[in-house]
Amino acid sequence: MTTMIGSVCIARYAACSAPCARRAKGQGSGLLKHNRHSEEKPWRKSSSEIHNSFNGVELSRTHSPKKTFHHRWRALAPKCAASQSPKKKILVLGGTGFVGSKICELAIKEGYEVVSISRRGAPRDSQNATMGIRTGSIQQVKLLATVDWRQGDVVEDPSVVARVLEEGGFDAVVHAIGMLLASDLNKVASGSGSVPSPGSTYDQVTRQTAFAAVSAFAEASTSMPSPPPFVFVSAAEAGWSWKAPVAWLEEYLIAKRAVEAELLDNGAKGALRPIILRPSLVWTPERAPSIPPVAAFYLGNLLGIPGVDRPVMVDVLAGAALQAISDSEVEGIQDFRGMESLARARGQ
Ligand SMILES: NC(=O)c1ccc[n+]([C@@H]2O[C@H](COP(=O)([O-])OP(=O)(O)OC[C@H]3O[C@@H](n4cnc5c(N)ncnc54)[C@H](OP(=O)(O)O)[C@@H]3O)[C@@H](O)[C@H]2O)c1
Repeated sequence: MTTMIGSVCIARYAACSAPCARRAKGQGSGLLKHNRHSEEKPWRKSSSEIHNSFNGVELSRTHSPKKTFHHRWRALAPKCAASQSPKKKILVLGGTGFVGSKICELAIKEGYEVVSISRRGAPRDSQNATMGIRTGSIQQVKLLATVDWRQGDVVEDPSVVARVLEEGGFDAVVHAIGMLLASDLNKVASGSGSVPSPGSTYDQVTRQTAFAAVSAFAEASTSMPSPPPFVFVSAAEAGWSWKAPVAWLEEYLIAKRAVEAELLDNGAKGALRPIILRPSLVWTPERAPSIPPVAAFYLGNLLGIPGVDRPVMVDVLAGAALQAISDSEVEGIQDFRGMESLARARGQ
Protein backbone atom coordinates (compact mmCIF):
# COMPACT_ATOMS: atom_id res chain seq x y z
CA MET A 1 0.00 0.00 0.00
CA THR A 2 2.87 2.23 0.88
CA THR A 3 4.28 1.89 -2.60
CA MET A 4 0.92 2.53 -4.14
CA ILE A 5 0.26 5.60 -2.07
CA GLY A 6 3.77 6.87 -2.73
CA SER A 7 3.57 6.41 -6.48
CA VAL A 8 0.01 7.61 -6.67
CA CYS A 9 0.87 10.69 -4.67
CA ILE A 10 3.54 11.56 -7.21
CA ALA A 11 1.21 10.78 -10.06
CA ARG A 12 -1.53 13.02 -8.66
CA TYR A 13 0.19 16.16 -9.70
CA ALA A 14 1.10 14.86 -13.05
CA ALA A 15 -2.47 14.81 -13.66
CA CYS A 16 -4.85 37.39 15.09
CA SER A 17 -6.01 40.18 14.29
CA ALA A 18 -9.42 38.78 15.17
CA PRO A 19 -12.34 41.10 14.55
CA CYS A 20 -13.21 42.03 18.11
CA ALA A 21 -16.08 44.23 17.00
CA ARG A 22 -17.72 41.36 15.16
CA ARG A 23 -17.19 38.96 18.03
CA ALA A 24 -18.69 41.43 20.48
CA LYS A 25 -21.79 41.49 18.31
CA GLY A 26 -21.94 37.69 18.62
CA GLN A 27 -21.88 37.14 14.89
CA GLY A 28 -19.67 34.09 15.41
CA SER A 29 -22.68 32.35 16.98
CA GLY A 30 -23.77 31.58 13.47
CA LEU A 31 -21.77 28.41 14.12
CA LEU A 32 -24.63 27.10 16.28
CA LYS A 33 -26.91 27.22 13.30
CA HIS A 34 -24.73 24.67 11.56
CA ASN A 35 -25.37 22.02 14.23
CA ARG A 36 -29.00 21.76 13.23
CA HIS A 37 -28.06 20.74 9.75
CA SER A 38 -25.01 18.65 10.35
CA GLU A 39 -26.84 15.34 9.97
CA GLU A 40 -28.80 16.34 6.94
CA LYS A 41 -26.01 17.65 4.75
CA PRO A 42 -22.48 16.29 4.78
CA TRP A 43 -20.94 19.73 4.35
CA ARG A 44 -22.70 21.27 7.32
CA LYS A 45 -20.43 20.74 10.30
CA SER A 46 -20.16 22.57 13.56
CA SER A 47 -16.88 24.04 14.59
CA SER A 48 -16.53 21.51 17.44
CA GLU A 49 -17.23 18.59 15.13
CA ILE A 50 -14.56 19.91 12.87
CA HIS A 51 -12.08 20.15 15.73
CA ASN A 52 -12.87 16.64 16.95
CA SER A 53 -12.39 15.14 13.56
CA PHE A 54 -9.24 17.14 12.94
CA ASN A 55 -6.07 15.15 13.00
CA GLY A 56 -3.63 17.96 13.07
CA VAL A 57 -0.32 18.68 14.61
CA GLU A 58 0.21 21.46 17.11
CA LEU A 59 1.81 24.42 15.55
CA SER A 60 1.62 27.40 16.83
CA ARG A 61 5.23 34.67 6.71
CA THR A 62 10.55 41.95 -3.10
CA HIS A 63 8.96 43.41 -5.08
CA SER A 64 5.80 45.46 -5.37
CA PRO A 65 2.85 43.70 -6.91
CA LYS A 66 2.99 44.38 -10.58
CA LYS A 67 -0.30 44.51 -12.40
CA THR A 68 0.41 42.52 -15.50
CA PHE A 69 -1.59 43.21 -18.63
CA HIS A 70 -1.41 40.67 -21.37
CA HIS A 71 -2.92 42.55 -24.22
CA ARG A 72 -3.63 39.47 -26.25
CA TRP A 73 -5.64 37.96 -23.37
CA ARG A 74 -7.38 41.21 -22.63
CA ALA A 75 -8.35 41.62 -26.26
CA LEU A 76 -10.19 38.30 -26.03
CA ALA A 77 -12.21 39.34 -22.98
CA PRO A 78 -15.95 39.38 -23.59
CA LYS A 79 -17.46 42.82 -23.43
CA CYS A 80 -19.61 42.75 -20.28
CA ALA A 81 -22.69 44.89 -20.03
CA ALA A 82 -22.72 47.14 -16.97
CA SER A 83 -24.28 45.03 -14.20
CA GLN A 84 -27.14 46.29 -12.05
CA SER A 85 -25.57 45.38 -8.67
CA PRO A 86 -21.90 45.46 -7.78
CA LYS A 87 -20.15 42.20 -8.61
CA LYS A 88 -18.95 39.97 -5.79
CA LYS A 89 -15.19 39.87 -5.69
CA ILE A 90 -12.85 36.93 -5.02
CA LEU A 91 -9.11 36.82 -4.52
CA VAL A 92 -7.62 33.55 -5.81
CA LEU A 93 -4.08 32.89 -4.64
CA GLY A 94 -2.50 30.61 -7.24
CA GLY A 95 -4.99 31.36 -10.02
CA THR A 96 -2.47 30.22 -12.66
CA GLY A 97 -2.52 26.70 -11.19
CA PHE A 98 -4.42 23.64 -12.34
CA VAL A 99 -6.97 23.98 -9.50
CA GLY A 100 -6.83 27.78 -9.16
CA SER A 101 -7.48 28.42 -12.85
CA LYS A 102 -10.62 26.27 -12.81
CA ILE A 103 -11.89 28.18 -9.77
CA CYS A 104 -11.15 31.47 -11.60
CA GLU A 105 -12.95 30.23 -14.71
CA LEU A 106 -16.11 29.10 -12.88
CA ALA A 107 -16.16 32.23 -10.72
CA ILE A 108 -16.00 34.50 -13.78
CA LYS A 109 -18.73 32.45 -15.42
CA GLU A 110 -20.87 33.03 -12.35
CA GLY A 111 -20.42 36.77 -12.49
CA TYR A 112 -17.71 37.27 -9.87
CA GLU A 113 -14.94 39.75 -10.27
CA VAL A 114 -11.75 37.71 -9.86
CA VAL A 115 -8.26 38.82 -8.90
CA SER A 116 -5.40 36.29 -8.92
CA ILE A 117 -1.91 36.49 -7.45
CA SER A 118 0.92 34.16 -8.46
CA ARG A 119 4.53 34.41 -9.52
CA ARG A 120 3.78 33.88 -13.22
CA GLY A 121 1.08 36.55 -13.24
CA ALA A 122 -1.16 35.57 -16.14
CA PRO A 123 -1.29 32.12 -17.72
CA ARG A 124 0.87 31.76 -20.78
CA ASP A 125 -0.34 30.18 -24.00
CA SER A 126 2.20 27.39 -23.55
CA GLN A 127 0.51 26.58 -20.26
CA ASN A 128 -2.90 26.04 -21.78
CA ALA A 129 -2.35 22.38 -22.60
CA THR A 130 -1.20 21.49 -19.09
CA MET A 131 -4.00 23.51 -17.55
CA GLY A 132 -6.50 21.36 -19.40
CA ILE A 133 -7.61 24.18 -21.66
CA ARG A 134 -8.42 22.57 -24.96
CA THR A 135 -7.33 24.42 -28.01
CA GLY A 136 -10.93 24.56 -29.17
CA SER A 137 -12.24 26.01 -25.91
CA ILE A 138 -12.21 29.67 -26.82
CA GLN A 139 -14.90 30.13 -24.16
CA GLN A 140 -12.45 29.11 -21.39
CA VAL A 141 -9.76 31.38 -22.76
CA LYS A 142 -12.26 34.24 -22.94
CA LEU A 143 -13.39 33.67 -19.36
CA LEU A 144 -9.82 33.56 -18.05
CA ALA A 145 -9.02 36.69 -20.02
CA THR A 146 -11.31 38.66 -17.72
CA VAL A 147 -9.38 37.70 -14.56
CA ASP A 148 -7.34 40.51 -13.08
CA TRP A 149 -3.98 38.73 -13.09
CA ARG A 150 -1.42 40.10 -10.65
CA GLN A 151 2.17 39.01 -10.44
CA GLY A 152 3.55 38.40 -6.94
CA ASP A 153 5.64 35.93 -4.99
CA VAL A 154 3.78 35.37 -1.72
CA VAL A 155 6.79 33.60 -0.16
CA GLU A 156 9.22 36.37 -1.01
CA ASP A 157 6.73 39.15 -0.26
CA PRO A 158 3.82 37.94 1.94
CA SER A 159 2.51 41.50 2.31
CA VAL A 160 1.42 41.45 -1.36
CA VAL A 161 -1.80 39.77 -0.22
CA ALA A 162 -2.60 42.50 2.32
CA ARG A 163 -1.85 45.20 -0.28
CA VAL A 164 -4.27 43.69 -2.78
CA LEU A 165 -6.93 43.16 -0.08
CA GLU A 166 -6.54 46.81 0.95
CA GLU A 167 -7.98 47.75 -2.44
CA GLY A 168 -11.26 46.66 -0.82
CA GLY A 169 -14.45 44.92 -1.81
CA PHE A 170 -13.28 41.32 -1.48
CA ASP A 171 -16.02 38.90 -0.42
CA ALA A 172 -13.89 35.72 -0.32
CA VAL A 173 -10.32 34.45 -0.55
CA VAL A 174 -9.24 31.12 -2.05
CA HIS A 175 -5.79 29.72 -1.30
CA ALA A 176 -4.72 27.34 -4.11
CA ILE A 177 -0.97 27.94 -3.89
CA GLY A 178 1.00 24.74 -3.72
CA MET A 179 4.03 22.64 -4.54
CA LEU A 180 4.27 18.85 -4.60
CA LEU A 181 7.99 18.41 -5.14
CA ALA A 182 10.53 20.84 -3.73
CA SER A 183 12.63 20.78 -6.91
CA ASP A 184 12.51 21.55 -10.65
CA LEU A 185 10.82 18.16 -11.05
CA ASN A 186 7.67 19.90 -9.82
CA LYS A 187 7.34 21.27 -13.36
CA VAL A 188 6.39 17.75 -14.40
CA ALA A 189 4.41 16.95 -11.25
CA SER A 190 2.41 20.21 -11.26
CA GLY A 191 -0.77 20.25 -13.28
CA SER A 192 0.16 23.72 -14.57
CA GLY A 193 3.92 23.31 -14.93
CA SER A 194 4.69 25.53 -11.94
CA VAL A 195 8.39 25.62 -11.04
CA PRO A 196 9.27 26.26 -7.36
CA SER A 197 11.69 29.06 -6.53
CA PRO A 198 15.13 27.66 -5.58
CA GLY A 199 15.25 26.39 -2.00
CA SER A 200 11.46 26.45 -1.52
CA THR A 201 10.09 24.44 1.39
CA TYR A 202 6.56 23.17 2.04
CA ASP A 203 6.48 25.34 5.13
CA GLN A 204 7.16 28.45 3.03
CA VAL A 205 4.94 27.67 0.05
CA THR A 206 1.97 26.30 1.98
CA ARG A 207 2.04 27.40 5.60
CA GLN A 208 3.65 30.82 5.34
CA THR A 209 1.62 31.95 2.30
CA ALA A 210 -1.64 30.74 3.82
CA PHE A 211 -0.92 32.23 7.26
CA ALA A 212 -0.20 35.58 5.59
CA ALA A 213 -3.47 35.39 3.65
CA VAL A 214 -5.57 34.30 6.63
CA SER A 215 -4.18 37.07 8.79
CA ALA A 216 -4.55 39.71 6.05
CA PHE A 217 -8.15 38.74 5.23
CA ALA A 218 -9.17 38.58 8.92
CA GLU A 219 -7.68 42.05 9.33
CA ALA A 220 -9.28 43.44 6.18
CA SER A 221 -12.75 42.12 6.94
CA THR A 222 -13.34 43.31 10.51
CA SER A 223 -16.10 45.67 9.39
CA MET A 224 -17.99 42.98 7.46
CA PRO A 225 -21.33 41.97 9.03
CA SER A 226 -20.41 38.26 9.15
CA PRO A 227 -17.17 36.29 8.87
CA PRO A 228 -16.25 36.07 5.20
CA PRO A 229 -15.36 32.73 3.57
CA PHE A 230 -11.76 31.64 3.24
CA VAL A 231 -11.24 28.54 1.11
CA PHE A 232 -8.08 26.49 1.61
CA VAL A 233 -7.24 23.67 -0.81
CA SER A 234 -5.75 21.10 1.53
CA ALA A 235 -5.32 17.38 0.81
CA ALA A 236 -7.20 14.23 1.80
CA GLU A 237 -4.05 12.79 3.37
CA ALA A 238 -4.04 15.61 5.94
CA GLY A 239 -6.66 13.48 7.69
CA TRP A 240 -4.33 10.50 8.11
CA SER A 241 -3.75 9.53 11.72
CA TRP A 242 -0.47 7.81 10.79
CA LYS A 243 2.86 9.11 9.54
CA ALA A 244 3.28 9.42 5.79
CA PRO A 245 5.44 6.69 4.22
CA VAL A 246 7.91 9.21 2.79
CA ALA A 247 9.53 12.24 4.47
CA TRP A 248 8.61 14.82 1.80
CA LEU A 249 4.95 13.81 2.02
CA GLU A 250 4.97 14.11 5.79
CA GLU A 251 6.43 17.64 5.47
CA TYR A 252 3.76 18.49 2.88
CA LEU A 253 1.06 17.25 5.27
CA ILE A 254 2.49 19.00 8.33
CA ALA A 255 2.20 22.28 6.42
CA LYS A 256 -1.37 21.49 5.30
CA ARG A 257 -2.45 20.58 8.86
CA ALA A 258 -0.89 23.73 10.26
CA VAL A 259 -2.98 25.85 7.87
CA GLU A 260 -6.13 23.87 8.61
CA ALA A 261 -5.61 24.46 12.34
CA GLU A 262 -4.97 28.18 11.83
CA LEU A 263 -8.06 28.56 9.70
CA LEU A 264 -10.27 26.61 12.12
CA ASP A 265 -8.94 28.74 14.92
CA ASN A 266 -9.90 31.88 13.01
CA GLY A 267 -13.31 30.31 12.45
CA ALA A 268 -13.75 29.65 16.16
CA LYS A 269 -12.87 33.29 16.85
CA GLY A 270 -15.47 34.44 14.36
CA ALA A 271 -12.85 36.11 12.21
CA LEU A 272 -13.37 34.07 9.05
CA ARG A 273 -15.63 31.29 7.77
CA PRO A 274 -13.22 28.39 7.20
CA ILE A 275 -13.77 26.14 4.19
CA ILE A 276 -11.20 23.38 3.95
CA LEU A 277 -11.29 21.21 0.83
CA ARG A 278 -9.53 17.87 1.18
CA PRO A 279 -9.20 16.24 -2.24
CA SER A 280 -7.03 13.21 -2.90
CA LEU A 281 -6.22 13.16 -6.60
CA VAL A 282 -7.69 16.09 -8.56
CA TRP A 283 -8.24 15.25 -12.19
CA THR A 284 -9.80 16.15 -15.49
CA PRO A 285 -10.64 13.74 -18.32
CA GLU A 286 -8.95 16.26 -20.60
CA ARG A 287 -5.57 15.10 -19.29
CA ALA A 288 -5.03 11.54 -20.42
CA PRO A 289 -1.86 10.84 -18.34
CA SER A 290 -3.85 11.27 -15.14
CA ILE A 291 -6.26 8.44 -16.00
CA PRO A 292 -4.16 5.47 -14.69
CA PRO A 293 -3.53 6.99 -11.24
CA VAL A 294 -7.15 8.15 -11.08
CA ALA A 295 -8.28 4.60 -11.79
CA ALA A 296 -5.94 3.29 -9.08
CA PHE A 297 -7.39 5.75 -6.56
CA TYR A 298 -10.96 4.83 -7.49
CA LEU A 299 -10.15 1.16 -7.08
CA GLY A 300 -8.28 1.67 -3.82
CA ASN A 301 -11.22 3.61 -2.43
CA LEU A 302 -13.69 1.02 -3.67
CA LEU A 303 -11.69 -1.72 -1.97
CA GLY A 304 -11.75 0.27 1.25
CA ILE A 305 -7.98 0.73 1.51
CA PRO A 306 -7.49 3.05 4.49
CA GLY A 307 -6.41 6.55 3.54
CA VAL A 308 -7.32 6.26 -0.14
CA ASP A 309 -10.09 8.70 -1.04
CA ARG A 310 -12.05 8.83 -4.26
CA PRO A 311 -10.47 11.26 -6.73
CA VAL A 312 -12.25 14.56 -7.32
CA MET A 313 -12.75 16.13 -10.73
CA VAL A 314 -11.34 19.64 -10.91
CA ASP A 315 -14.75 21.00 -11.99
CA VAL A 316 -16.35 19.40 -8.93
CA LEU A 317 -13.71 20.89 -6.62
CA ALA A 318 -14.12 24.35 -8.17
CA GLY A 319 -17.92 24.08 -8.04
CA ALA A 320 -17.76 23.01 -4.42
CA ALA A 321 -15.54 25.99 -3.58
CA LEU A 322 -18.00 28.44 -5.18
CA GLN A 323 -21.04 26.79 -3.60
CA ALA A 324 -19.36 26.93 -0.19
CA ILE A 325 -18.51 30.60 -0.73
CA SER A 326 -22.09 31.51 -1.63
CA ASP A 327 -23.81 29.46 1.12
CA SER A 328 -23.11 31.08 4.47
CA GLU A 329 -24.04 27.87 6.32
CA VAL A 330 -21.19 25.89 4.83
CA GLU A 331 -17.97 25.66 6.77
CA GLY A 332 -15.31 23.25 7.93
CA ILE A 333 -13.54 20.29 6.39
CA GLN A 334 -14.99 18.89 3.18
CA ASP A 335 -13.79 15.52 1.97
CA PHE A 336 -14.70 14.11 -1.46
CA ARG A 337 -18.27 13.41 -0.29
CA GLY A 338 -18.71 16.96 0.93
CA MET A 339 -17.29 18.38 -2.30
CA GLU A 340 -19.50 16.15 -4.44
CA SER A 341 -22.55 17.19 -2.40
CA LEU A 342 -21.70 20.85 -2.69
CA ALA A 343 -21.20 20.57 -6.44
CA ARG A 344 -24.52 18.71 -6.75
CA ALA A 345 -26.26 21.46 -4.81
CA ARG A 346 -25.39 23.85 -7.64
CA GLY A 347 -26.57 21.42 -10.28
CA GLN A 348 -23.22 19.98 -11.35
N1 LIG B 1 -3.64 18.53 -8.15
C1 LIG B 1 -3.95 17.64 -7.22
O1 LIG B 1 -4.15 16.43 -7.49
C2 LIG B 1 -4.10 18.08 -5.79
C3 LIG B 1 -4.55 17.15 -4.85
C4 LIG B 1 -4.71 17.54 -3.52
C5 LIG B 1 -4.41 18.83 -3.15
N2 LIG B 1 -3.96 19.71 -4.07
C6 LIG B 1 -3.65 21.08 -3.63
O2 LIG B 1 -4.28 22.00 -4.48
C7 LIG B 1 -3.50 23.20 -4.53
C8 LIG B 1 -3.31 23.59 -5.99
O3 LIG B 1 -2.64 22.54 -6.65
P1 LIG B 1 -2.51 22.48 -8.22
O4 LIG B 1 -2.69 21.09 -8.63
O5 LIG B 1 -3.35 23.54 -8.83
O6 LIG B 1 -0.97 22.85 -8.39
P2 LIG B 1 -0.25 23.79 -9.47
O7 LIG B 1 -0.89 23.66 -10.80
O8 LIG B 1 1.21 23.50 -9.38
O9 LIG B 1 -0.54 25.25 -8.93
C9 LIG B 1 0.17 25.81 -7.87
C10 LIG B 1 -0.12 27.29 -7.83
O10 LIG B 1 0.64 27.90 -6.77
C11 LIG B 1 1.25 29.08 -7.30
N3 LIG B 1 2.44 29.41 -6.52
C12 LIG B 1 3.45 28.58 -6.18
N4 LIG B 1 4.35 29.23 -5.44
C13 LIG B 1 3.90 30.51 -5.30
C14 LIG B 1 4.38 31.66 -4.64
N5 LIG B 1 5.55 31.65 -3.97
N6 LIG B 1 3.67 32.80 -4.72
C15 LIG B 1 2.49 32.85 -5.39
N7 LIG B 1 1.98 31.77 -6.04
C16 LIG B 1 2.68 30.62 -5.99
C17 LIG B 1 1.56 28.71 -8.74
O11 LIG B 1 1.70 29.84 -9.57
P3 LIG B 1 3.10 30.35 -10.14
O12 LIG B 1 3.88 29.18 -10.59
O13 LIG B 1 2.63 31.28 -11.22
O14 LIG B 1 3.71 31.07 -9.00
C18 LIG B 1 0.28 28.00 -9.12
O15 LIG B 1 -0.71 28.95 -9.47
C19 LIG B 1 -2.19 22.89 -3.82
O16 LIG B 1 -2.22 23.43 -2.54
C20 LIG B 1 -2.17 21.38 -3.74
O17 LIG B 1 -1.48 20.92 -2.61
C21 LIG B 1 -3.80 19.38 -5.40
